Amino acid sequence: MKPIEEYVVSIPDFPEQGVIFRDVTSVLQDAEGLHLAIDLMQEKLEGLDFDVVVGPESRGFIFGVPIAYNLRKPFVPVRKKGKLPRETVSIEYELEYGTASIEMHRDSIKPGQRVVIVDDLIATGGTTEAIIKLVEGMGGEVSKVIFLMELAGLKGRQRLKDYDLDSVITYPGN
Ligand code: PRP
Ligand code: MG
Repeated sequence: MKPIEEYVVSIPDFPEQGVIFRDVTSVLQDAEGLHLAIDLMQEKLEGLDFDVVVGPESRGFIFGVPIAYNLRKPFVPVRKKGKLPRETVSIEYELEYGTASIEMHRDSIKPGQRVVIVDDLIATGGTTEAIIKLVEGMGGEVSKVIFLMELAGLKGRQRLKDYDLDSVITYPGN
């Protein structure tokens, strides 16, 4: 079987000049790539005791749900503003390209629950930092954060240095 790195197609100068876009769809559209990605991410959770998987719309859903399902944990979605029907907590944050606002249902995390955050990619760490604030605001504890890909040049890891963060593939640049 090919190593996971070989399933990721890199597109230079997308969405802007100088950025190399690491395309997760090339992993997903290959049955072996999809399996490998989920398995390798899930391995990062081996031996960890936790209660809930939290994943952000939209790419966090793709990886968060199968991992939650496999480990028989609930999955809590973080959604872009205006999508959740019940009472929410929300936060605005800086994105690599602009600003965004995300929300969770206020009753989705119970005080003391141990949360694993799952997403496809960490760039600046802004999305994850915002999710951590929402989770902790509801009284949850972030046990671990896992990604398929990490753009180390954007220093998300340093931004989240107080948390246990792990990724399957690390790219040195941005
Ligand atoms: C992308 C990616 C991560 C986030 C990483 O999501 O899927 O969630 O950006 O960037 P950061 O570490 O700088 O916050 P995006 O907001 O583009 O939305 P999508 O998942 O719906 O494509
Ligand atoms: Mg995303």
